[in-house]
Amino acid sequence: MPTKIILDCDPGHDDAIALLLAHGSPEIDLVAVTTVHGNQTIEKVTRNALSVARIAGITGVPFAAGAHRPLVRAAEIAASIHGESGLDGPTLPEPLIDADVRHAVDLIIGTVMAAPPHTITLVPTGALTNIAIAVRKEPRIAGRVKEVVLMGGGYHGGNWSAAAEFNIVVDPEAAHIVFNEPWKLTMVGLDLTHQALATPDVVAAIAAVGTSPARFVVELLEFFGETYRREQGFAFPPVHDPCAVALVIDPGVMTVVRVPIDVELAGTLTVGMTVADFRSPAPETCTTHAATGLDVDRFWALIVDALQRIGEP
Ligand code: BDR
Ligand code: CA
Repeated sequence: MPTKIILDCDPGHDDAIALLLAHGSPEIDLVAVTTVHGNQTIEKVTRNALSVARIAGITGVPFAAGAHRPLVRAAEIAASIHGESGLDGPTLPEPLIDADVRHAVDLIIGTVMAAPPHTITLVPTGALTNIAIAVRKEPRIAGRVKEVVLMGGGYHGGNWSAAAEFNIVVDPEAAHIVFNEPWKLTMVGLDLTHQALATPDVVAAIAAVGTSPARFVVELLEFFGETYRREQGFAFPPVHDPCAVALVIDPGVMTVVRVPIDVELAGTLTVGMTVADFRSPAPETCTTHAATGLDVDRFWALIVDALQRIGEP
């Protein structure tokens, strides 16, 4: 039985690849896509998600726009990494579908509550604003979802500050809510995603698929690679968000450890830091986990396989 997921994203180059990976993998049943402010404004990331749906040939899946800003703090975007559109590089087609009339928060709640218990996995790859609002509006979803597998955070350092990762620090209060709910949560953070580097060999393997969605991914990686070189000093770009989807597809693709994790809200230098307590053993009550090691070849094989399955929609 494929795992039903809701992808809550802010496309975003790596979010777009995460969407393609989810759609092209038979282990995943993509039941809804929701968008959240982050890499760009909610209007831009929602349009991007709908354009990617056309490129990937995704039909029959509701796409709903969510929060336009963080819970407490001023909105912040990542145009330096993702460009003015949020998905600069490739030419984006006009979407063929409209966004759902529901707010993302209501789509998340409605989908989780209508499904049998413990069948829906939430996969957030952006700020955690929608998920936090959803669990505050309908607390029963905390006991109803199967698990939360998110891209965000890290236990060794940050990328948007010395201590904090972008998805967490743009809305740390929301992240604090999500990390402290009693659901099983796995943090696929920077320690893991910095192992998923789109090297020239990886890009060549994707290009060899030869379809228009594969060409789209290559163009995304070219732009993303350039901004990561310029802004963050990476030789090859870390492709963060598909890592969270990959863990749902193939739990053997990475090592995961159970460890208490909380989100710093008060530090002057460390706000948004995900503080993992590796002193063992983890308490019985601990429901948070961190991804630590990636089987790199197995990960990229999942992406290539998904693109092959998507073919030429
Ligand atoms: C995260 O930040 C965003 O810019 C990416 O899409 C990814 O979700 C990496 O820190
Ligand atoms: Ca993202």
